[in-house]
Parts: sequence; C-alpha cells; structure tokens
Amino acid sequence: MAEYICLLNQDSIIIKAPKKNTLLLRMLVLVFAMVCGVYICSICVKQINFQTLTSNQSIQVVESPCLDNGIKLLEYPHVHYPNPKTFSRGECEHNPVRFFAILSMQRSGSGWFESLLNSHINVSSNGEIFSRWHRRRNISSIVETMDQVYNLDWQSSASKNQCSAAVGFKWMLNQGLMEHHKEIADYFNRRGVSAIFLFRKNLLRRMVSDLANSYDRYAKLLNGTHKAHVHSAEEAEKLSTYKPVINSTSLINDLVKMELATKAALASFNTTRHIVLYYEDVVKNPAKLNKVQVFLGLPVMELKSHQVKIHKGSLSDHIKNWDDVNRTLSGTTYEHFLYSDY
Ligand SMILES: *[C@@H]1O[C@H](CO)[C@@H](O)[C@H](O)[C@H]1NC(C)=O
Ligand SMILES: *[C@@H]1O[C@H](CO)[C@@H](O)[C@H](O)[C@H]1NC(C)=O
Ligand SMILES: *[C@@H]1O[C@H](CO)[C@@H](O)[C@H](O)[C@H]1NC(C)=O
Ligand SMILES: *[C@@H]1O[C@H](CO)[C@@H](O)[C@H](O)[C@H]1NC(C)=O
Ligand SMILES: *[C@@H]1O[C@H](CO)[C@@H](O)[C@H](O)[C@H]1NC(C)=O
Ligand SMILES: *[C@@H]1O[C@H](CO)[C@@H](O)[C@H](O)[C@H]1NC(C)=O
Ligand SMILES: *[C@@H]1O[C@H](CO)[C@@H](O)[C@H](O)[C@H]1NC(C)=O
Repeated sequence: MAEYICLLNQDSIIIKAPKKNTLLLRMLVLVFAMVCGVYICSICVKQINFQTLTSNQSIQVVESPCLDNGIKLLEYPHVHYPNPKTFSRGECEHNPVRFFAILSMQRSGSGWFESLLNSHINVSSNGEIFSRWHRRRNISSIVETMDQVYNLDWQSSASKNQCSAAVGFKWMLNQGLMEHHKEIADYFNRRGVSAIFLFRKNLLRRMVSDLANSYDRYAKLLNGTHKAHVHSAEEAEKLSTYKPVINSTSLINDLVKMELATKAALASFNTTRHIVLYYEDVVKNPAKLNKVQVFLGLPVMELKSHQVKIHKGSLSDHIKNWDDVNRTLSGTTYEHFLYSDY
C-alpha cells in the first residue's frame, strides 16, 4: 500500500513538473524516494518487532529467567508465566503456573476431589464452568473461556490470584468436551494443559448417586434446598433416605454405555499429558493426592475437604428394587458392583 501511494506521488510530480527545472525535479523525486524508503523500512521494523514479540511469548518458558529452580526440560511446555489483565501477580510473577482440567462424569466424586485440590494454598480450580450452555455454545466460546481461566482472569470463589501455582477447572464429559474433543485436545497440547481424569469404578454406585441427586433436584430434602454435596453426617443421612428404583431392563446396557464413554474420553485425550485417577483409589489411599500434587508440580501438602459422603455402607440399603438388581447383575462382569464398598 505504501509503495503504491509513493509511486502515485512520483507520477503526479513527473507529469506536473515543468521541463526547465529538471534538477529540482530530480531532487524532489530523490527526496520522495528517500521518504518512501524510510517509511517502508519503519513498517518492516515494526513487523519484525511484532513477530519476535509474539514468538517470544510462545517460547517464553524456554528463555525465562524464572527457570533456575530445577524444572526439567521435559516439562517446559507445561510451565507458564501468565500475565493477567485483572490484577498483578506481584511477588509471585516469577513462580511457574501449571494448567490443568479435571475431566470427569457427574457423581464420580469430582466435587469432593476438587474441594481437596482447592484446599491447597496454590491451587485454583474454578468449578464446573462449562455447566453454562452459553460458554460451550461453540468451540470459539470454549477457547475464549479457557483462555480467560488460564490467564488467571477467571473470578470465582476458588481464585487464589497472585500466588496460584496451578489453575484449572472441572469438566464433565457431557458438557461439550466430547463433542469438540479434537479441538480441545489440540488446545491442551498447544497450551500445555494437563488432564486429570477422575472416574468411578463402581458405576452402579454412580447410578444410585445420580438418580438420588436428580430426585433431590425437585424433592429438595434438606429444608427445601437442593444439595448436590453435603458437609455433615445428618445431611448425608437425610439425603440417603431416598432409595431410587433402578431400571433393571436397561441396567446392563446403561453400564456398558458408561464404560464406553469412559474409554472414548481416554482415547480422545491420550495424546495430552494426563493422569488417570479412580475415586475409589483416592478414598482408600490418600497418598494418591500426593501423586496429583507432584503431577501438577506443586509443593506437596496435606489436603482437606469438609464434604461428607452421602451413600455409605452396603448398596442393598440404597436401592429400592435390590433383588431385581441383584438378579440382573449376578453372573455378569458387573457382579462385583453389588459388593464393593465405595
Ligand atoms: C524476550 O524474552 C526475554 C526473556 O523473557 C526478554 O529478556 C526479551 O527482552 C524479550 N524480547 C522481546 C523482544 O520482548
Ligand atoms: C460462537 O458463538 C458466539 C456467541 O457466543 C458467536 O458470536 C460466534 O459467531 C460463534 N462462532 C462460530 C464459529 O459459530
Ligand atoms: C504458594 O502460595 C504462597 C502463599 O500465597 C506463596 O508464598 C508461595 O510462593 C506459593 N508457591 C508457589 C509454588 O507458587
Ligand atoms: C433444617 O432445619 C432444621 C430445623 O429447623 C435445622 O436444625 C437444620 O440445621 C436445617 N438444615 C439445613 C440444611 O438448613
Ligand atoms: C426401562 O428401560 C426400558 C428399556 O430401555 C424401557 O423400555 C422402559 O420404559 C424403562 N422403564 C422405566 C420405568 O423407565
Ligand atoms: C491413543 O488411543 C488410540 C485409540 O485408542 C490408540 O490407537 C493410540 O495408541 C493411543 N495413543 C497413546 C499414546 O496411548
Ligand atoms: C444376591 O442374590 C443372591 C441369591 O439370592 C444372594 O445369595 C446374595 O447374597 C445377594 N447379594 C447381595 C449383595 O444381596
């Protein structure tokens, strides 16, 4: 564009200039040529600056002076130094930040798991941000939302602002995650997001919890408020008084579907950096939480949650048509669901 304008000017000068003043004319052309040259050069320099700046940002981790504290080469793409728009990271701006997403299914203990993570002084896990449909309407709104979270600009009760060392959120498979799995896996790989899979082994228990939670959504057993998670034994007991009826005709099929959904999620995100956890293992072995902290590059702390388990003890106490269910699952690969404790 600049060149085009310059040529036009030269032409018009040549046409209008009287023949006698050839020296003056030549001088004028020369001056214009110089001005144009300088102008074009300045544009080039600006573009080069912009390019180095952007490439600098993407490989910032490689050159960053903050990297002296023993982080292995392998982990470079997963270490970040976000520069939030909404606040200054202050004294923590040289602390590396890891990006994560907890990928799970409803009623698999992810609320409890997230509350444990958030009890860490340096973790911000911002909840189920994609439960709102408008944020997962299309891949651009998903990416925009994730960018905001990973830039530490997402405000929630879990925000720890300047000294977060790991930031993320909880994402259910049916909240647009599988629908856009390809683009999301690409995003995870591009931006160095680590996936934490959290599944439940006992899918029958998961089903009971799901049905009871759906029931409470309108029954509102706790003084007229619906609660998905509780913080006292009394509340847990009250919620567990409701015994769902399980459709034994579709039961096997429903269990198979859940298993397939889990497998599909693992396959879709197996190119990303990830860890697979099972709710039952975390309940039985709290040391699993240390593994998660190491995975996220956090200083290991004891993590605590105030949440209380709702459906305790034998499953036969929590299912109305137990005999039916027992008959349906006996002799199948799912039989052990009838007996396991969690
Ligand atoms: C690129 O990053 C390095 C280290 O973070 C910094 O010293 C340098 O000034 C940056 N260069 C540009 C052009 O911003
Ligand atoms: C995605 O949704 C937003 C509204 O949230 C809309 O403005 C935008 O055009 C949509 N993009 C695509 C690619 O459909
Ligand atoms: C964790 O948070 C504390 C308190 O805000 C801060 O002093 C510390 O530097 C943080 N650690 C990391 C690894 O970011
Ligand atoms: C429900 O009401 C009872 C009696 O008023 C009270 O003791 C209890 O704490 C309330 N529970 C909740 C969850 O608000
Ligand atoms: C149980 O599942 C079967 C098969 O999917 C279905 O036809 C039936 O309507 C279901 N029963 C109830 C009570 O939902
Ligand atoms: C990812 O999953 C696909 C499909 O199940 C499989 O073919 C591939 O080997 C897996 N890749 C890794 C790295 O596990
Ligand atoms: C299931 O049914 C069988 C046969 O009636 C019985 O022996 C078994 O104890 C039942 N299992 C449970 C967990 O109730």
